[in-house]
Amino acid sequence: EKIILAYSGGLDTTAIIPWLKENYDYEVICCCVDVGQGNELDGLEERAKLSGASKLYIEHVTDEFVDDFVMPCVQASAVYENKYLLGTSMARPVIAKKLVDIARAEGASAVCHGATGKGNDQVRFELTIKALAPDLRIIAPWRCLDTWNMQSREDEIEYCKAHGIDLPFDASHSYSRDRNLWHISHEGLELENPANAPDYNHLLVLSVSPEKAPDEGEVISLSFEKGVPVSINGKAMKASDIITELNVLGGKNGIGIVDIVENRVVGMKSRGVYETPGGTILMEAHNQLEELILDRDTLAYKKLVANKFADLVYEGKWYTPLRKALQAFIESTQEFVTGEVMVKLYKGNIIKQGSISPYSLYNESIASFTTGELYNHHDAEGFINLFGLPLKVRAMMMAEKEK
Ligand code: ARG
Ligand code: SIN
Repeated sequence: EKIILAYSGGLDTTAIIPWLKENYDYEVICCCVDVGQGNELDGLEERAKLSGASKLYIEHVTDEFVDDFVMPCVQASAVYENKYLLGTSMARPVIAKKLVDIARAEGASAVCHGATGKGNDQVRFELTIKALAPDLRIIAPWRCLDTWNMQSREDEIEYCKAHGIDLPFDASHSYSRDRNLWHISHEGLELENPANAPDYNHLLVLSVSPEKAPDEGEVISLSFEKGVPVSINGKAMKASDIITELNVLGGKNGIGIVDIVENRVVGMKSRGVYETPGGTILMEAHNQLEELILDRDTLAYKKLVANKFADLVYEGKWYTPLRKALQAFIESTQEFVTGEVMVKLYKGNIIKQGSISPYSLYNESIASFTTGELYNHHDAEGFINLFGLPLKVRAMMMAEKEK
């Protein structure tokens, strides 16, 4: 029987290979899903085989990740607990979907992942697998407390060596990180105590802290069609290339660093730092365009939907009827979210430089302080009389009672 292992080539997922062979009777097939994490893929096949796998699949799905998972979150303006742009959360369902695809192609009966028993990732991987392939067995070594006896990187290196895997691994303790095209997350080390300041000199990967950003800001323009970015500074590009370019510009200017104590699905609070340089710019520019285009009721209702959408994504409930239905609502709101947004990137800030849309609802002759045609000041008086009537009635009642 075959098992498909979500594999990165790192120490954790390498140690899983001999562990699987020791504790089960599976042929281990590794699958590395490339969502833009930028890790070394050269030599990965040899590495997987040296570790005891029979085969390695490398799946390049960055565009699918961006188009089908990231863009709906941008259109929704989905943000978890007011801060987290969901970079890891959005990637888990696409990774798990590829594991399932390969399990089917190989006729495998099980899948395996290296997420711990304390986190969100196990939930996201497994909800996706259950939704797409309810028959597949799921093995999560880190939860197998009676057979998985490795507590540290040193333990894992020793275990690998004992099983004939002698690869150059770094034993040094670092942050627990997860990277893809949209973001990188950092947890662990000094971050584990929320009383500690983050050590940005060691921690940051995609960006510099605002203090180290250039003194001159940088103005850029972004164009959107139906809520999806289509060009940057007048150059048409696919969404993944726009994110790549924005990551460089945002990173250089210290944009999109978030330090949060968040509530995990499994009940605990956890402290992490996220770098989402390009994504932060994209979200902000998209919001600026919506300010011009969406009517008041739609904008307000969309905010409620965005919150729910963010929770669903965070909780790993991508493949659910509710996520699909909310996405259909969001898509409908994006029909006219087309136009151009100019922003200045400056030391961690995104400063408005103006936006333009053929579908803007902003009407200068109505909004300006000089008298216009469409808006009659006298109408406001009657409007306020009715709008304020409940307040007036109640105040009169209270006055009567106090007599
Ligand atoms: N706390 C974040 C989330 O739940 C980041 C998780 C990072 N995962 C990891 N394997 N390092 O989305
Ligand atoms: C893990 O525990 O595997 C990473 C953290 C998380 O999933 O929240």
